[in-house]
Amino acid sequence: DAVELGPYDHYMQKEIFEQPGALANTLEMVSNASALSPNLFGAEAVDIFARTQQILILACGTSYHAACVARYWLESVAGLPTTVEIASEYRYRTSVALPNTLVMTISQSGETADTIAALQHAKSLGMNDTLTICNVPESALIRQSKLRFLTRAGPEIGVASTKAFTTQLAALFVLVLVLAKQRGQLAPAQEQELLAALRHLPAAMQHVLEIEPQIQTWAKAFADKRHTLFLGRGVHYPIAQEGALKLKEITYIHAEAYAAGELKHGPLALVDADMPVVVVAPNDALIDKLKSNLQEVRARGGELFVFADRDTHISEEDGVHVINLVDHAGLLSPILHVLPLQLLSYHAALVKGTDVDKPRNLAKSVTVE
Ligand code: G6P
Repeated sequence: DAVELGPYDHYMQKEIFEQPGALANTLEMVSNASALSPNLFGAEAVDIFARTQQILILACGTSYHAACVARYWLESVAGLPTTVEIASEYRYRTSVALPNTLVMTISQSGETADTIAALQHAKSLGMNDTLTICNVPESALIRQSKLRFLTRAGPEIGVASTKAFTTQLAALFVLVLVLAKQRGQLAPAQEQELLAALRHLPAAMQHVLEIEPQIQTWAKAFADKRHTLFLGRGVHYPIAQEGALKLKEITYIHAEAYAAGELKHGPLALVDADMPVVVVAPNDALIDKLKSNLQEVRARGGELFVFADRDTHISEEDGVHVINLVDHAGLLSPILHVLPLQLLSYHAALVKGTDVDKPRNLAKSVTVE
């Protein structure tokens, strides 16, 4: 193999730990600049962004989850209405094309058949302002999009995507800041503050990865389970979805993600001692709501595994396990909170003895329909 494993046992493990570096590489051009410029996305970006009134994002798998996170950022920071669609659905749906839509695709490979077809479908409806966030230069999506931002994650070999995801999120955050700035929604002080937070991100990620030994202990509680539930709220709901996807992909344990407020509309009926409930619990505006959702699970005998921020203040008690990350990272928090979920799946897979890098029935890149 051209890419060496080095001290690691699996590519997925290597790629999880490469994330701080991959992020720093992806952000290099941004970190070196004193201010943000639309040119990061291409020469035509300034004109295209000026006429953009809404955004449509098309993607599959893990890249779709990155799109779902971006929707929260695009609406709350840049004030741009955003729709996210699974590419395989969008390409066959009769939909209404709105004028001045920026059509975005997100893809590690740039070669996913459904995403390419969805982009072509959008163009056939007259939407020709296109932007891709992609990890492979010269890929089909890069060639077929007017604007582009290359993530610099390096080759990703593990079928379960990790560093491609976090670098996509970093790229998306840069896009959100550029759009917000161009739309006059980002004060210079706020721009500097958010740029500083971005620059600090690789170090913060490094700190989060240090909790691996605690996660390794937790993983043992998952390996013999058949079902798991992942909960999150707001911008962390897609992170719960990504955590559930990782667990399904490499451990074959059934994992379902729910927006925690929706618990009472169904999944609460499933809760018992045999279904661990993983919770993404950052110290954000929804934390009190989330805490009462956790009470609902606990009252029904569910066992909680909570990934909190250091300042979340959820205490360990019978049936409630808590691992604290760093202090709450504000808007960038999803990029930190996905890391322990990747590690949890990785270690649960090791306990189960599944093929981490090449899970059954899955392909790294799905280039046929
Ligand atoms: C496959 C891979 C996933 C990936 C998805 C989309 O299903 O196994 O890890 O998220 O394709 O791939 P893309 O290259 O478009 O991001």
